[in-house]
Amino acid sequence: MTTPIPQPPGVPFLGNIKDVDPGNTWWSLKSLAEKYGEIFKIKVLGHEIVFVASAALAEEICDEKRFRKYVGGPIVEIRYTVHDSLFAAYHHEESWGVAHRIIAPLLSPEAVAEHFDEVLLCTQELISKWKSRGADQKFQPLKELNNLSLETTALTLLGKKLDCINAPQEHPVVRAMEDATSEAMKRPNRPKLLNWLVYGGKFKRATKTLRGFAAECVAHRNQHSTGRQDLLWALMNATDPETGKKLTDEQVIDEIVTMPIGSSTAPCALTSMVLYLLRNPQVVVKAREELDRVVGGRTGALKREHIPQLDYVQGIVRETLRLSNAAPGFNIEPIPKKGDTSPVLLQGGKYQIAHNQPMIIVLAGVNRDPAVFEDPLEFRPERMMGESFEKLPAGVKKWFGNGKRACIGKHWAWEFLMVVTAKLIQEIDFEVVDEDYVLKQDGWFNVRPIDFYVKAKARV
Ligand code: HEM
Repeated sequence: MTTPIPQPPGVPFLGNIKDVDPGNTWWSLKSLAEKYGEIFKIKVLGHEIVFVASAALAEEICDEKRFRKYVGGPIVEIRYTVHDSLFAAYHHEESWGVAHRIIAPLLSPEAVAEHFDEVLLCTQELISKWKSRGADQKFQPLKELNNLSLETTALTLLGKKLDCINAPQEHPVVRAMEDATSEAMKRPNRPKLLNWLVYGGKFKRATKTLRGFAAECVAHRNQHSTGRQDLLWALMNATDPETGKKLTDEQVIDEIVTMPIGSSTAPCALTSMVLYLLRNPQVVVKAREELDRVVGGRTGALKREHIPQLDYVQGIVRETLRLSNAAPGFNIEPIPKKGDTSPVLLQGGKYQIAHNQPMIIVLAGVNRDPAVFEDPLEFRPERMMGESFEKLPAGVKKWFGNGKRACIGKHWAWEFLMVVTAKLIQEIDFEVVDEDYVLKQDGWFNVRPIDFYVKAKARV
């Protein structure tokens, strides 16, 4: 006997259109996960989507022998901007393998370690800004961390200094990423004519800005050939060892645009982390004990070899990735079997889905599964350290996605998060602006706290 997958009641003809706010889809899905638990479904404009929100079910559908990434909905829409680049490629497209084999070596842990000094340099620039701003001035950390992330991505991977950390406004690429990804999220649920007539211009402008930025990076490299063998060098020159192919000029632009969109998840996580640290001062005390011991007080120089020794800071970063669900989810479908349209069983037959059913893993549910975590809403770095972390089920460690299509930038992201977290805790004291702030997140391909302000000053 299978159990029916719960579905909110909905309205005649339009289905569950009112259950999901198109302006804040992930917050609606989080709320539905809280109400319905491990699995639920909705039907909008004739399309049925199943959502998975428990650790056990997430682990099951991450089995690559039975399931794979579903390239549909917003992922197909963002192809307008990035074409068949890594994130948006269909399974049958050869371009994915060619680009993956060219890019992956440049984002390996060893390659990322080479950029440590550049990551530190950018972080130090932001820290100097925050120290000199004036302790009584409130600001939104997200905006400044967005610029930091873009600056660091451009410097390390594309060899270009943008100088946007000290700029008063967000970089135009940050705005364009927001516009392109919000369009990609909203378009599947709007009539096609409306997309074309009313919103087409916004999508086009954002895409033009992003592709123009990528073209500038290529032109800059052509004019300033420094012999630097970074990601941009590989995109422009390397050959796929398997097919002998190189990326075309257009594919180089596609992949450059994909990188800042990917890395834009990191500042979302860091903004949440600032909030968790403010609410858990005992965590800051413990982290400073570790940093004082390993790195040496407020003025100690952080070095690459310190990173693996900072167990507690690692716990903070992992707990942030768990609780913030900065990348809020990812799409899965059953692997098609030729001529076989029989239903797919989940949890040994407890649930049944169609052979071609798209599913979305909602990490806000999975990462706070009470079957795995005691007090799941509490911020406890200790549970993300050493043996406690090793013992956690695989389903709750999916913040970088799954298997073959998992995040190719995960080592870069890890290094960036570790450096920024360590330096902020080592050198900055944050102050709460609004004691009554109630966390609400929004976002498109990533989620972040809304209207969250802090004050900052040099550590006393
Ligand atoms: C905290 C930081 C980050 C998080 C939580 C994160 C999370 C994810 C997740 C969940 C996926 C899987 C998406 C899917 O299945 O559809 C993914 C894919 C991807 N990410 Fe990240 N990401 C982060 C940082 C980065 C960075 C720094 C880069 C680039 C430098 C990057 C580039 C990509 C790319 C290109 C893909 C597509 C990979 C493929 O399909 O082959 N991400 N990321």
